[in-house]
Amino acid sequence: MIVPTRTLFEHAYGKYAIGAYNINNLEQTMGLFRGAIDSHSPFIIQISKGARGYTDKRMLEAMIRTADDIFPNALFAVHLDHGDEQTALECIESGFYSSVMIDASHESFEENVAITKRVVQAAHPRGISVEAELGMLGGVEEDIKVDEKNSMLTDPEEAKEFVAESGCDSLACAIGTSHGAYKFSGGQGIHFDRVAAIQKLLPGYPLVMHGSSSVPQDEVARINAAGGQLGGAKGVDPEQYLPAAKLGVCKVNIDTDGRLVWCRVHREYFRDKPAEFDLRPPGKIFMAEYAKFIASRNVYLGSAGQLEGARAHAMKK
Ligand code: G3H
Ligand code: 13P
Ligand code: ZN
Repeated sequence: MIVPTRTLFEHAYGKYAIGAYNINNLEQTMGLFRGAIDSHSPFIIQISKGARGYTDKRMLEAMIRTADDIFPNALFAVHLDHGDEQTALECIESGFYSSVMIDASHESFEENVAITKRVVQAAHPRGISVEAELGMLGGVEEDIKVDEKNSMLTDPEEAKEFVAESGCDSLACAIGTSHGAYKFSGGQGIHFDRVAAIQKLLPGYPLVMHGSSSVPQDEVARINAAGGQLGGAKGVDPEQYLPAAKLGVCKVNIDTDGRLVWCRVHREYFRDKPAEFDLRPPGKIFMAEYAKFIASRNVYLGSAGQLEGARAHAMKK
């Protein structure tokens, strides 16, 4: 059942985080639904602009509707990931999305507010909520000086002002994570002091953590042993998801890790069976492995076991 994103956040706030997983194809979709059901978790399925263009956006919508039929107990929201203004407005218009992200974080503060506000004005009359982004997510590396690093993180005072002025419903904050498989060179992780400072000024307000893949080292080692070249790949410690959730992080975005599972399964399969060329055997292994991966992340996020509670909350609305 597709539910409003805000309903999931209301149930999760301060207790656990909802995993937001990107999909591009049927195998990811099936693995995600299976893993969510196996772990009794509500979840967010997210579609990026790149995913909408990969085949045809209607294919993704049809897959999600069909997965909803195949897994009638699933409880989830559908979200546009990293939308520009035009894509966000298109998704709002389509009526299929529970929420959209407008990512104008590369613009000036004033321009980011103005663009976000326009998207909010289009979304709210249709009951769709809006995630915006403030701060510089990428490139927060250990070799950057502390002052410089802190200036890239979301400023709590600015976050408060941004939310008040734009009317957005949740805010993606730069808190030390970054996208992709190469997040940190050392032991650095989430800046909890920054999350706490933002929560203090925005109590009860849903925060979003992008760039949350954990880049499991056993996965990287297996990929490299099967011919990959992912030297130095590193991610977020998944033990940090729940402490972040307690500080108001309601949505944790994970995409790269799913790509790593896909890469490992296919590299190992064709390494071990060089005479094979059928896509279905490795596809089947991927769906099962991805389901296991999703279930394991939902345990870290604290969303495992919350399905019935979240459903009861959604039914009251
Ligand atoms: O943050 C971006 C997500 O990982 C989606 O990636 O734009 O390549 O689909 P994508
Ligand atoms: P990862 O690259 O860490 O998986 O982050 C995904 C993300 O933030 C999608 O918006
Ligand atoms: Zn992101």
